Amino acid sequence: MKMMNVLSKKKLGVFLQLCFLLCACSEKTLREGSSTSIVKLNTDDQQQLVVDNGIVSVTLSRPEGYILGISYNGVDNILESENKDDRGYFDVVWNKPGKTGNFSRIHGTNFSIIAADENMVEISFLRIWTPSMNETDAPINIDKRYIFRSGDSGFYSYVIFDRPEGMPAVEVDQIRYVYKLNKDMFKYMALSDTRQRSMPAMKDRLTGQNLAYPEAVLLTKPIDPQFRGEVDDKYQYSCENTDNNVHGWISFDSDEPMGFWLITPSNEFRNGGPIKQDLTSHVGPITLSMFVSTHYAGKEVTMAFEDGESYKKVFGPVFVYLNTDSSENDNSTLWSDAVQQLSKEVQSWPYDFPQSKDYFPPNQRGMVFGRLLVQDRYFKGGRFQYTNAYIGLALPGDAGSWQRESKGYQFWTRANAKGYFKIDNIVPGDYNLYGWVPGFIGDYKYNATITITSGGVLNLDSLIYNPPRNGPTIWEIGIPDRLASEFHVPDPYPTLLNKLYSEQRKDKFRQYGLWERYSDIYSDADLVYTVGVDKNKDWFYAQVTRITENKTYEPTTWQIVFEHQNDIITGNYTLQLALASASDANLEVRFNDAGVDPPHFATGRIGGDNAIARHGIHGLYWLFSIDVPSNVLVKGQNVIYLKQSRAINPFQGVMYDYIRLERPPIT
Ligand SMILES: *[C@@H]1O[C@H](CO)[C@@H](O)[C@H](O)[C@H]1NC(C)=O
Ligand SMILES: *[C@@H]1O[C@H](CO)[C@@H](O)[C@H](O)[C@H]1NC(C)=O
Ligand SMILES: *[C@@H]1O[C@H](CO)[C@@H](O)[C@H](O)[C@H]1NC(C)=O
Ligand SMILES: *[C@@H]1O[C@H](CO)[C@@H](O)[C@H](O)[C@H]1NC(C)=O
Ligand SMILES: *[C@@H]1O[C@H](CO)[C@@H](O)[C@H](O)[C@H]1NC(C)=O
Ligand SMILES: *[C@@H]1O[C@H](CO)[C@@H](O)[C@H](O)[C@H]1NC(C)=O
Ligand SMILES: *[C@@H]1O[C@H](CO)[C@@H](O)[C@H](O)[C@H]1NC(C)=O
Repeated sequence: MKMMNVLSKKKLGVFLQLCFLLCACSEKTLREGSSTSIVKLNTDDQQQLVVDNGIVSVTLSRPEGYILGISYNGVDNILESENKDDRGYFDVVWNKPGKTGNFSRIHGTNFSIIAADENMVEISFLRIWTPSMNETDAPINIDKRYIFRSGDSGFYSYVIFDRPEGMPAVEVDQIRYVYKLNKDMFKYMALSDTRQRSMPAMKDRLTGQNLAYPEAVLLTKPIDPQFRGEVDDKYQYSCENTDNNVHGWISFDSDEPMGFWLITPSNEFRNGGPIKQDLTSHVGPITLSMFVSTHYAGKEVTMAFEDGESYKKVFGPVFVYLNTDSSENDNSTLWSDAVQQLSKEVQSWPYDFPQSKDYFPPNQRGMVFGRLLVQDRYFKGGRFQYTNAYIGLALPGDAGSWQRESKGYQFWTRANAKGYFKIDNIVPGDYNLYGWVPGFIGDYKYNATITITSGGVLNLDSLIYNPPRNGPTIWEIGIPDRLASEFHVPDPYPTLLNKLYSEQRKDKFRQYGLWERYSDIYSDADLVYTVGVDKNKDWFYAQVTRITENKTYEPTTWQIVFEHQNDIITGNYTLQLALASASDANLEVRFNDAGVDPPHFATGRIGGDNAIARHGIHGLYWLFSIDVPSNVLVKGQNVIYLKQSRAINPFQGVMYDYIRLERPPIT
């Protein structure tokens, strides 16, 4: 269906259309039979080169490797021509340890043709680091590769990081591709079936009013009046890595509607694991391909290299996909076609065509399979629970370390309902096998290092996860799923809406300014939760600071009130305290004495995931298993005081995932 649309482009001619309609020949035969789909590389110009496969034509600067133009479907350049080299580029945010950050667009120094025949062109723009760049560029050799194949409605890009021995130390916070599209064409953005909308213009941000967090702007004088009074903030369009696989823009400007999509068929090269969140597309119109970032995690996930440390990793390939809709359908046709293209890319992952020797083709990859069961003897469903666990391989480390791991490859899957899992296409190397199970607290780690060999298959049989547990549950608050979404997410201020989420209740947490609602709702006193009376919806989604009438900030102290009807048992009770997020917070826990100093327990200063300010419903996961000596509890009414004591700004605080009080173990 879509192939027809692509083929019916003027470029391909009537003959091919007829051929397709009459003999229904496959995409492959068409490609081979199509003389217009030969990939041509033109390097006549010393400053620029053009690669054209008859469907898409891309102009790149030489030797820098900036994408200057993408010509498609009769449009000369779908990128923003008003920008100079600021159209399609790769950039790095980095710093020397202890110094402030630098932002560098990567400027190739050495252009080379890796492969060029009529079926495929692969070109390289290598940026070689030299000591003379010590102050201006990250000490990494960076090879930007582009692949153009016949018959593809788009092109691939990937990036190789190489640190030969002897380079100085560096911390890399972010690496990404950026595409800035023609602002007069692309006005409708899509990142999921439900998260898609017509978007304001970049100019609207300049005429608007800056809000408390730098990226957020209230649109006061938008060009298109329908956006007046809305908030625009790119972080409202974030999503988890597992879902960050196709997003982009639609243009209704030309004769036929046209789509620009960034397709990421695998997360293996991204940092922080499957539920780390990152940016997608946003006002500009801009589409990002995020490879690594500290978003929703903080500086603690930076890629840190020591002096002299060598390193090599391949990021990508990702696919820039272009489509058109000649059938005069609405925008949903282009979106659903992009989703179909994603599934094609996923099916052909790992790709077998990238030429870099550092890229691992399918036949060099290994596989692990097995079954993960959960054993929790106090859990009501029985001793072994079937699960839908997240299971993954990441660089060796402690249980849970994968969420802060940014340098290696990660390979994740979900076990099925009976706990069986298979992880394939694994790059050879040493890993730990990690897991976590929605419905249970804590992190699983398989005891031994797992060595994946080229083509190797490893059967781990049955594995058992014993989640943290010292005794039977007395009470619990929340659902252990690393999210705060089951708690009360307040209605946004009507003056600070993103209308996209007005109708979509489950995305309500993406609205701007919800942190401030706490001081409205709890204007007289902080939250008090009474066990047995209150429900999850009575627990505010984030413990934020209180805003005073003088616009200063105060700590907040929440209380959990519970009756302990039986005699207190001598020994340790356990408070299992799981956080879904922490931003420059210090959570102090006190039992039946709001003033005891030092507190019975304190997390210390933790977190920089910024999930409160950036409208996430989680950031990094934290679990504290707190010993509660029996002498601090009483028969009858008890109060647990949770004080978030750091209060300098409105974005500090924690989100809770789950809290459970356990009796001492039954022996
Ligand atoms: C890169 O280009 C420079 C200058 O032309 C040349 O001296 C150097 O050998 C090239 N390096 C590689 C790895 O091709
Ligand atoms: C690079 O700069 C660092 C200080 O930031 C210095 O310690 C190091 O010696 C320099 N390296 C080279 C190769 O110039
Ligand atoms: C990088 O940051 C340093 C400050 O740490 C600054 O002196 C330098 O000019 C920056 N370099 C670039 C290329 O932005
Ligand atoms: C795109 O599709 C949505 C949902 O079908 C519709 O509400 C919207 O008006 C469409 N936009 C345009 C510009 O056609
Ligand atoms: C983990 O490995 C260590 C050392 O090999 C061994 O002593 C220990 O019993 C193992 N633990 C489990 C739970 O298998
Ligand atoms: C606000 O400032 C005024 C004047 O300094 C002071 O009297 C008042 O106590 C302050 N209010 C709070 C809540 O700090
Ligand atoms: C109770 O907890 C304290 C503090 O962690 C610890 O020192 C003590 O050994 C524990 N007692 C028992 C009986 O487990």
